[in-house]
Amino acid sequence: MASTVIKNWDNRTWLSSQNYIEKFNKFLLKNIKLNSNSKILDIGCGRGKILGNLNSKLKLKKKPTGIDIVDHKDKDKRIFFKKINASKFFSINKEKFDLILIKQTIHLLNFKEIKRLLKLSKKNLSPKGRIFIFTLDINNNQIPTFKLMKLKLMISLRRDKKIINMIKKLYPQRIKKKFFFKVKIVKTKYLNMIKNKYMSILLGLSNREISKGLIEIDLKYKKNINFDDKLICMIL
Ligand SMILES: C[S@@+](CC[C@H](N)C(=O)[O-])C[C@H]1O[C@@H](n2cnc3c(N)ncnc32)[C@H](O)[C@@H]1O
Repeated sequence: MASTVIKNWDNRTWLSSQNYIEKFNKFLLKNIKLNSNSKILDIGCGRGKILGNLNSKLKLKKKPTGIDIVDHKDKDKRIFFKKINASKFFSINKEKFDLILIKQTIHLLNFKEIKRLLKLSKKNLSPKGRIFIFTLDINNNQIPTFKLMKLKLMISLRRDKKIINMIKKLYPQRIKKKFFFKVKIVKTKYLNMIKNKYMSILLGLSNREISKGLIEIDLKYKKNINFDDKLICMIL
């Protein structure tokens, strides 16, 4: 699972829209005090748009660091990017961070890797530093799905629940918050996201399964799709 390759998650989707990033970073800055001297790391940063926006907002003296196993050509220029597996990063890192962000990436690691990554992340925090983990809300999920996708999502969310419980046990002092974003997307664009296998649960599906799913979504939804993209946030 560790080397799942997701290429189209934030490829011109709501997840890389200005509105989403603004709302997300507003949420972050409401929950942690950061300034121009802050050192920030994003584990599994994708195209690094969230970090890039944080850099502009905070006028960071040092570019924030983003790491990912995929090096996108169109990644944000305002970040320092390193193509590296999360499990290897801390063996070469010498910095202490004020914020370590792990957004919608933790579920791509195995349990042993998660434990190790969180332990190392804790060690690499500044005294007031915090780790922010974001993962899909396991209870009230509204992601538009077709039948097979829903099944895969349910299996994935069941595993996420185990990850959340493990983190709860390891870090009982954690703070739990919720973040949501109202998505308004035209169906054709969402169909394209499915075609591009934007979520990890779609990566293992065959072309035939995806084609069938596209027909199902087309029948199930009207021209515009509205739903809440809901995340759980754990602050360690
Ligand atoms: C669902 S995307 C989330 C991207 C970004 N954090 C966001 O929320 O917009 C998951 C990201 O984690 C990356 N990833 C997966 N396994 C990884 C690993 N072992 N180390 C570093 N990054 C990883 C993927 O390449 C992908 O960019």
